[in-house]
Amino acid sequence: MLTQRKFDEYYMRRALSLAWRGTDAARPNPKVGCVLVQETQTGARIVGEGYHAGYGRVHAEAAALDNAANRSEDVRGASAYVTLEPCSHFGKTPPCAPRLVSAGIKRVIVGSEDPNPKVKGRGFDILRAAGVEITAPYLEKECKWLNRGFFRCHTQNRPWVTLKAASSLDGKMALTSEIHAFDNLERTSLRGITGETSLNWAHLMRAEHDGILIGVGTALADDPELTTRRTCGKSPLRIILDTKLSLPPSAHVLKGGCFILTCASGANESKRKALEDAGAEICVLPSGDTGRVDLCAALSALMERGVRSLLVEGGPAVLSAFMKAKLCDSLAFFAAPLIMGEGPALGDGLNFNFMDSVVKLKNANVRRSGEDVLVEGIFQCSPAL
Ligand SMILES: NC(=O)c1ccc[n+]([C@@H]2O[C@H](COP(=O)([O-])OP(=O)(O)OC[C@H]3O[C@@H](n4cnc5c(N)ncnc54)[C@H](OP(=O)(O)O)[C@@H]3O)[C@@H](O)[C@H]2O)c1
Repeated sequence: MLTQRKFDEYYMRRALSLAWRGTDAARPNPKVGCVLVQETQTGARIVGEGYHAGYGRVHAEAAALDNAANRSEDVRGASAYVTLEPCSHFGKTPPCAPRLVSAGIKRVIVGSEDPNPKVKGRGFDILRAAGVEITAPYLEKECKWLNRGFFRCHTQNRPWVTLKAASSLDGKMALTSEIHAFDNLERTSLRGITGETSLNWAHLMRAEHDGILIGVGTALADDPELTTRRTCGKSPLRIILDTKLSLPPSAHVLKGGCFILTCASGANESKRKALEDAGAEICVLPSGDTGRVDLCAALSALMERGVRSLLVEGGPAVLSAFMKAKLCDSLAFFAAPLIMGEGPALGDGLNFNFMDSVVKLKNANVRRSGEDVLVEGIFQCSPAL
């Protein structure tokens, strides 16, 4: 016999797995899943289920109710397992909390409160006022993780920032000869540090983020495309930190559009126009203490541009700048079975006197990625969601 806790966990995990199906199509909305469960004397069964399948499309609760109606199931007296608080306001679709009430749902089990000020507790108020029993938060950590960018924006006013790096066993991210190689080498002579499995994995990571950011150092050295061509996901917004607008208009990253964050307000007009003609959207920001693009201002500008999750794939300079500013949430670090000797390394530019102050990760997870090793973790400086 299942305890109530195990029973609830089973259906909430089902709602969570449905929510993940929303993938990037739901952006900028959160991914949400909903399962409707009818209990009778002979047992319990799912009578309807759904998820938010895309921006502007029906919400998970409405999708589950429609699914039940299509199956001619009676939902009166049923329980609804929803990963996020049902909404209370009219957006692109009608609000879900009143719809659950009028469908006769008796109990609602919710993953977490919706941090959006338009909802934030109001959905619960509607349900409570109608006498619906509420169990919340339930599996809150998992439900928030599902929409970490959405939560980070509402709680910290910036996107969720993932730093991604690949290095040799001695921590090197490139060979010295590859720095500023764009001008001197054929593209084909530049080979990645990691193997095929890790490259495919990295492209999947790109597809999960709204934006992908590098510094102009990487753009000049590698001339990357920053697409998701190894997978089927949507390519994120390409972003370059380029204090002085040094990116050449011939750069691959400009094809298909690119957002350049710069401090060069007085850049010569023809240079600016050449970049814009090649596909750049230029955003002028203040410089920080280092005389380079201010990262706080950069994250605010990106949030305005709709970026809720950001993958930073820059070289050591940009990665260290994010760590120094404590503006990073998670790390995806690929270590390849190579020793590269001299070259730029992860952590260059960071300097600590005590072990207490070094950059630390929590909840670190280590797994194989082909012949490489992938270490993922949450930066200790990352505020709780
Ligand atoms: N293995 C890997 O995972 C990996 C990933 C990426 C790159 N790389 C390698 O790393 C090398 C390039 O390293 P890198 O450090 O020069 O690349 P980067 O970190 O991508 O770019 C650094 C440049 O970004 C610009 N920038 C603008 N605002 C900044 C800020 N707030 N903080 C820091 N930088 C800012 C600076 O130039 P301005 O001030 O002129 O704007 C700076 O020189 C290449 O050889 C590349 O192949 C390796």
